[in-house]
Amino acid sequence: MAKQAADLPLPALTLDPAAARPLHRQIYFGIRAAILAGCMKAGERLPASRRLAQALGVSRNTVLAAFEQLRAEGYIEGRIGAGSFVPCHLPDEAPLAGPGGPRRDPGRPARPAPAGRQPSARAQALARGAEPGPAARAFLPGLPELELFPFQDWARLLARRWRRPRRDFLVGAGAGGDPALRQAIAGYLASARAVVCEPGQVIITAGAQQALDLTARVLIDPGDLAWVEEPGYRPLSAVLTAAGAVLRPVPVDGEGLALPRGPDQPPPRLIAVAPSHQYPLGVTMSLPRRLALLDFARQAGSFILEDDYDSEFRYAGRPLAALQGLDDDRRVIYLGTFSKVMFPGLRLGYLVAPPDLVDSFLALRALIDAHPSSIAQAALADFIEDGHLAGHIRRMRQLYGERQALLIDFLQARLAGALQLAPAEAGMHLVADLAAGLDDQRLSQQARAAGVEAPALSGYFQGRPERTGLLLGYAGVGIAEMRRASEILARVVTSYRSAPSASPAA
Ligand SMILES: Cc1ncc(COP(=O)(O)O)c(C=O)c1O
Repeated sequence: MAKQAADLPLPALTLDPAAARPLHRQIYFGIRAAILAGCMKAGERLPASRRLAQALGVSRNTVLAAFEQLRAEGYIEGRIGAGSFVPCHLPDEAPLAGPGGPRRDPGRPARPAPAGRQPSARAQALARGAEPGPAARAFLPGLPELELFPFQDWARLLARRWRRPRRDFLVGAGAGGDPALRQAIAGYLASARAVVCEPGQVIITAGAQQALDLTARVLIDPGDLAWVEEPGYRPLSAVLTAAGAVLRPVPVDGEGLALPRGPDQPPPRLIAVAPSHQYPLGVTMSLPRRLALLDFARQAGSFILEDDYDSEFRYAGRPLAALQGLDDDRRVIYLGTFSKVMFPGLRLGYLVAPPDLVDSFLALRALIDAHPSSIAQAALADFIEDGHLAGHIRRMRQLYGERQALLIDFLQARLAGALQLAPAEAGMHLVADLAAGLDDQRLSQQARAAGVEAPALSGYFQGRPERTGLLLGYAGVGIAEMRRASEILARVVTSYRSAPSASPAA
């Protein structure tokens, strides 16, 4: 039951003994609110602690603890015994609306913004391409398993770092990131991906998305030509466009980016690829293609952006060396992320810059947001060093391989004539081909309305879609959820096929 100090000048002071917040904190907040709202004026005397305690039905010590806190923070003055008063100047009074003017009434509605006001043309163009974020549920591509992450270990490492924070965790960390993390990533990339780099070339970013954005800002001047994969990762095209690039979508076939032929190709400034596992098609770029791409870039004087966002999840075949490691010419900017191997909310990723560009990347990194949270970086370095990350990746690789097979079984049992699914050797999603007459955009919208994410493949093309289908992420979907979502998807497809407007003749 809430208790109120009815006969006292403190209307905001209502106590709830069942609340999680202790009683002395409730009293503290109540009195503070009354003072800030002007219910108690400067110079006014607070009720005596004994009387207030009686009125509220709490011990005097509880009230004294609240008074002590208010006094320490400057909301009241005076000494115990002599009485407590509201001071003339409060620590965080609400600001005045104008010099000497009245306080703005928080209930007064704000005036509408001046008519015709617009953000920049560039911001408007980018916003047109942005879609409402999909929900983190089945079958969102790229969603990792979250429940099985070793949070106990992660929390212990974070707490250990917080207990004795180094000074540079608190102030003055470098723009490139935590030295131990840069070292750990360089070591991991050398052994797992054949990337050749010094720790000083590794720059820690707020996820791969920031690494894409930084690369665009460092390399692109307005009007520069950039080749992107068709179909491809839309947020990459968006940041290149924001930097002023002119995009040329280049088709992807079964071996990866198919280099345009012909002698008169205007040389691109940048070629952006995801060779380990192309997004969204899932193709792994063949070795001859990798070598041909490097050769082309050398002759054209182009940079290559290698987006290696989920290469850790490979279920068959040996991984091919990263383009960065095959490149003698230092024209590859390599990037990766912890979003898939840990969780996206961590917002930690990295890029490996060619040595001559490191200073430019660092200067821009410092301008944008200085550096990511130092404590999280240090805990991550420990997490890698102590073998937790490698163990988690091994367990998830096994699990995701099983889930991929299960998804194929579930959907083939329910939708054999409508969807075609083949096992993929890498990644966290499958591309389901659709039977003739099924429109992937409409199906995707209907699936979302029914509670299942299944992005349409045709939406990843900038030009006319060469192929349609649905992207189905399986990594973060447990068995029960997978069965439930497969049934929903099957119902959506079946009702779509039986609706008269869906037939090709309609
Ligand atoms: C192809 C590709 N690149 C980059 C990213 C960016 O990942 P993040 O910014 O979460 O590290 C993603 C995320 O889904 C992706 O799919």
